[in-house]
Amino acid sequence: MASPAMPPVPTLVEIIAAKRDGAPGNPADVARLVAALMSGELADYQMAAWLMAVFFRGLSDPETVAMTEAMLRSGRVLDLSRVRGLKVDKHSTGGVGDKVSVTLAPLVAACGVPVPMVCGRGLGHTGGTVDKLEAIPGFRAQLDAAEFAAIVERVGCCMIGQTAEIAPADKRIYALRDVTATVESIPLIVASILSKKLAEGIDALVLDVKVGRGAFMKEVSAARTLAKALVRVGSRAGKKVVALLTDMEAPLGVAVGNAIETAEALDVLAGGGPPDLVACTLALGAEMLVLGGKAGGVGAARALLAQAIASGRAARVAEQMIEAQGGDPRVVADRRRLAVAEEELVIEAARDGYVDRVDALAIGLAAVAMGAGRSRADQPVDHGVGIYVEKKPGDAVRASEPLARLRVRSGAAALPIAERVREAFAIADTAPPLRPLVLDRIDDRSSTAAPGSG
Ligand code: URA
Repeated sequence: MASPAMPPVPTLVEIIAAKRDGAPGNPADVARLVAALMSGELADYQMAAWLMAVFFRGLSDPETVAMTEAMLRSGRVLDLSRVRGLKVDKHSTGGVGDKVSVTLAPLVAACGVPVPMVCGRGLGHTGGTVDKLEAIPGFRAQLDAAEFAAIVERVGCCMIGQTAEIAPADKRIYALRDVTATVESIPLIVASILSKKLAEGIDALVLDVKVGRGAFMKEVSAARTLAKALVRVGSRAGKKVVALLTDMEAPLGVAVGNAIETAEALDVLAGGGPPDLVACTLALGAEMLVLGGKAGGVGAARALLAQAIASGRAARVAEQMIEAQGGDPRVVADRRRLAVAEEELVIEAARDGYVDRVDALAIGLAAVAMGAGRSRADQPVDHGVGIYVEKKPGDAVRASEPLARLRVRSGAAALPIAERVREAFAIADTAPPLRPLVLDRIDDRSSTAAPGSG
């Protein structure tokens, strides 16, 4: 009897054409394209064509999982098998003043959940955790995989920058997306984020999907679609994943800059810090403890986090991690050791009223213009400059009260930037309605796709 004919293996051009035409996608084809790009069999311009087809046609969840796993396999997965317990990380889609990771890694580790964290550098208006950590004298964020694993095992957490070994296909593909207007595709964003996070060797992931002026996703509906896709695809890839949608209309906390953000994150570990930053940190930390199996619910998890702060255990873990990574651990107790630019420009309110808006995007761009961030990936940053956002939406303000304070190298040179910071504030006669900090929570039960999404 003749054996049934195997379907012919499509050529790479046929795979691109099938996506262009909206044919049902085959996960194996997606994996083949990624592997072919990395081997040189597929040219950049062919990948770019496929990415544009994906932008319009989408990817099914199985295709997105295949793309995530192929990008993950393009590099190495960190081996944390010697670290006991469920390993949990947190990833933020990026915001202004978002220094939560600096507090969260030692705090959650102090509660017994190991946190292996590979962090990003700032690009555009959003800051990066690595830049904030490098404001600590001596801190080394570029460790090799063995040292990273050893510190997670010994201290409970370690925070490093992206390495060339982690998901190199993402770097290649992101560079193509950046110049072909295909960054804003949900399945491509999902595969990009998850391939890097899964390479850390984690068991579970808490995602902070930021929403608002200062975020990648400006609207709650778009952020929810992204969060659901991240949770679905992460769960299909065998990880426990929860996402919180959190507000990013205004900067998070008071400080926007590197050294001043690190100081503020360490204030939270010491039991202080601005209320919105504390709330965001505890909400994400509680989810991490639940996924890490240390608490049955977020209420119990919050109590554990509070104890770790009050007892000083979280601060001690921060000191141990910083010391293990070559930094000066004394910054944890004495935040004045973080060097901050000395000149100050104060932005005063022009009238009495209530703060109606503090535009996070405008503040983030002003911080970049001051040198706290970068507009190109190869630019250095100035760790010492930054903006203190003294008034937040809903706050009452009197004429000539400070709205913001800029810490700059040269007051005269920073005057045009000070003007931009002033314009980021709007004052109204009445207090605006405020939306909650945590806008939604998505887990594997609430992550089903809306019809037609993908
Ligand atoms: N962050 C990433 O890592 N990748 C994206 O595609 C978008 C945001």
